[in-house]
Amino acid sequence: MPRLSVNVDHIATLREARRSKEPDPVTAALLAELGGAKGITVHLREDRRHIQERDLELLREVIKTKLDLEMGLSEGAVKIALRIHPELATLVPEKREEVTTEGGLDLSKPNLSRLEEVISLLHEGKILVSLFINPTPDSVKKAHKLGADFVELHTGLYAEAKNPLEVSTEIEKIAGAAILAKKLGMGVNAGHGLNYQNVEKVCLIREIEEFSIGHSIIARACLVGIREAVQEMIRLIEQ
Ligand code: PXP
Repeated sequence: MPRLSVNVDHIATLREARRSKEPDPVTAALLAELGGAKGITVHLREDRRHIQERDLELLREVIKTKLDLEMGLSEGAVKIALRIHPELATLVPEKREEVTTEGGLDLSKPNLSRLEEVISLLHEGKILVSLFINPTPDSVKKAHKLGADFVELHTGLYAEAKNPLEVSTEIEKIAGAAILAKKLGMGVNAGHGLNYQNVEKVCLIREIEEFSIGHSIIARACLVGIREAVQEMIRLIEQ
């Protein structure tokens, strides 16, 4: 049975929109665990647009499942990971100007030596490493060669597929990459753009151990919670 790790970044996005204390991503993480999440994912971005270092420290202390830290390859990010010691560090490409992570890691030659360096530093710190990659055989083989413990297969193109042919092509790519990764001895996670409409098909790929899902869950949470929140305020106003 695949597990769900809930990405709580966008709770912090909302908080940072007001530079206030709420909503608190740590509280959201605990509620996600109460709801059955088997892990909590956060991305400590270089520009700190949502999750802050303090959130990470608090999450490390209070969550009872496991922490998946998505991170870029900068020296600062590695230092923080070694101090916080997440159960899993997922290496992702990071550009300041992007709205969200765009595509898997660039595994072309110029980037390999930095990746190798970061993986070995994290391994020395006894942290398991996952590489967020596009679902291609070449990327899977390169991740294996780099010594990754896990791959996280990028499901963004599947999520954006516009017709049934594109959907089945993307599913086949993800399934092929998952099978190969598993055969090479790596764990297989997947994520990006998964929602209540499209998750079912990727769940049929038995090799995938864990799904990392954020935006759709936080978006749904805002809407399913709105009635109760309004009723609470009306009770205060009308008492
Ligand atoms: N996996 C990775 C590596 C990501 O960067 C993200 C987005 O932060 C996700 C999964 C979750 O994507 P979404 O928010 O679209 O569910």
